[in-house]
Amino acid sequence: MCGIVGYTGHVQAAPVLMDGLERLEYRGYDSAGICVSDGDAAHPLKALRVKGRLSALREASENGKAVPGLSGIGHTRWATHGEPTVENAHPHLSGGKVAVVHNGIIENYAELRVKLQGRGYVFESETDTETIAHLLHYYDHGDPVDAIVRTVMHLKGSFALGILFEERPGEVYGIRRDSPLIAATSPEGSFIASDVPAILPWTRNVAYLENMEIVRLSPEGITFFNLDGEPIEKEFTTVSWDVEAAEKGGYAHFMLKEIHEQPKAMEDTIRPHIRDGRIVMDELGMSDDEIRGIRHIQMAACGSAWHVCMTAKYIMERMARIPVDVDLASEFRYRDPVLEEGTMLMVVSQSGETADSLAALRYGKQQGMLSLAIVNVVGSSIAREADRVFYTAAGPEIAVATTKAYSTQLAACVMLALHFGRIRGVVDDDTYAAHVEALLKMPEQIREILRGEARMQWLAGKYANTRDAFFIGRGLDYASVLEGALKLKEISYIHAEAYAAGELKHGTISLIEKGSMVLAVATQKDLMEKEVSNMVEVRARGGTLLALTMEGNYDMEDQADFTIYVPRTEDVLYPNLVVVPLQLLAYYVSLSRGIDVDKPRNLAKSVTVE
Ligand code: M6R
Repeated sequence: MCGIVGYTGHVQAAPVLMDGLERLEYRGYDSAGICVSDGDAAHPLKALRVKGRLSALREASENGKAVPGLSGIGHTRWATHGEPTVENAHPHLSGGKVAVVHNGIIENYAELRVKLQGRGYVFESETDTETIAHLLHYYDHGDPVDAIVRTVMHLKGSFALGILFEERPGEVYGIRRDSPLIAATSPEGSFIASDVPAILPWTRNVAYLENMEIVRLSPEGITFFNLDGEPIEKEFTTVSWDVEAAEKGGYAHFMLKEIHEQPKAMEDTIRPHIRDGRIVMDELGMSDDEIRGIRHIQMAACGSAWHVCMTAKYIMERMARIPVDVDLASEFRYRDPVLEEGTMLMVVSQSGETADSLAALRYGKQQGMLSLAIVNVVGSSIAREADRVFYTAAGPEIAVATTKAYSTQLAACVMLALHFGRIRGVVDDDTYAAHVEALLKMPEQIREILRGEARMQWLAGKYANTRDAFFIGRGLDYASVLEGALKLKEISYIHAEAYAAGELKHGTISLIEKGSMVLAVATQKDLMEKEVSNMVEVRARGGTLLALTMEGNYDMEDQADFTIYVPRTEDVLYPNLVVVPLQLLAYYVSLSRGIDVDKPRNLAKSVTVE
């Protein structure tokens, strides 16, 4: 996500900060800023913020000369709250006394904002981070560690912070919870950073902060504190990675890194929308009457996002009893669709810039439809043009093959379906509560699946030379296999097809021969028997059968050559779990075949042409 750098030492801080931020560029960002403390001046905290690239920050700061000083903090922002603008860029200051940069999401920022406004604080941005700056200012009575402790006690959500206090020239503070932060030391000074590449030109000597540990950088060195304000000892380790490996956090590819980021991305997408057992969709700005007035949903998207729509159709119809149609965005506006009054258009897009999805949105709006977009990139064209927006919090996705954006889009659809279902009075309290609980468990369940990665790697090695692969499933599992087949073909170049299991015998089964790989996803209780019959048909024709099912469904081993299990959950949530082994399978098959996993041939991350 965003990048943080902090420095204090013997050389000018601004160039050090900007150089560090450039080394974090791979994380993606839409605006940037620095704040430098010039200990001698009357108002020592000097901040500069720009929208866009770091080159603009270099220009605005005359390569750092315009903001002299030996300590400072810097940030590259990936927008989550508020569009990418100068006002929303970090650092955020409070009363010129405190400056803060932040990675993560403050879930209770709206409520904190109101409280702080009541205490006379005036907000200049739409960000959650500005609440932190004002809280620090409010609690600053000359003891920075105490102010930090008191502030973080009020924060719900995740954060890594870099902080400057006007009255503490030469000092930089940091703290983290669920967002990474490291501290590093070199003969030229000391650093904090959100990721190792930022500090590699200076040092390889780093300490990894644990949750709720505080760090103070000063000209004398680095000190760590616990929440009681007591100094603590921390071990420094030597980083052996080169810059490229460091950018990927030690993973071989961005795709693998992003697969592993899914628990966090899911947490960041789900948690802010669940309060006291209720799904809260305030930011969507849809009134209950508007939700009750929806008579039909038309969905449009491309590629994996279209698979999300296919999954959402089942979930929305089941949980909210709203009829849903799904179109490929590239087809939608050309088929002269019949769009009756009360139809809401839903567009799903990671980038928010996919040309066909944007055109589908514009077409729907021209037809007078209310539009709702599920988008990952804040301030993207689709986000700006849709009437209502749900932002996923996957963070920047760099690998061409989508993984964490897909998962968070699915989670968004489940939450919307439950929310709509409750307001329309079609989902009962027990079902609602059980699904909310299951949603909250999902990040940990994904972690559990990831712990079984070695098994998927072994399996991938076995089937890396398969010529044809078939993915089958029924109901929601059919929607999941669409994504499983696409993942495999786009990064391994193996011919793969997805079929609704019941459809096989209407033609495709003639393709199954000895050695064909067939992967069956079977998680839907009501369809289990029927799906098992389809699997038996495949096996009888000599296909090698892999089954992906839920723990406890051990009879599956009687049918399949190899069985993969995911933890048990509610039926509509299985797509979010089964996709993880499917991603790992595709990743390791691609790796075995020596393909550039992150940049498969002929593909671009964002398709901005029709
Ligand atoms: O940015 P979008 O979500 O609109 O992109 C849509 C598709 O291009 C995208 O999902 C594509 O299919 C992925 N590369 C699949 O992994």
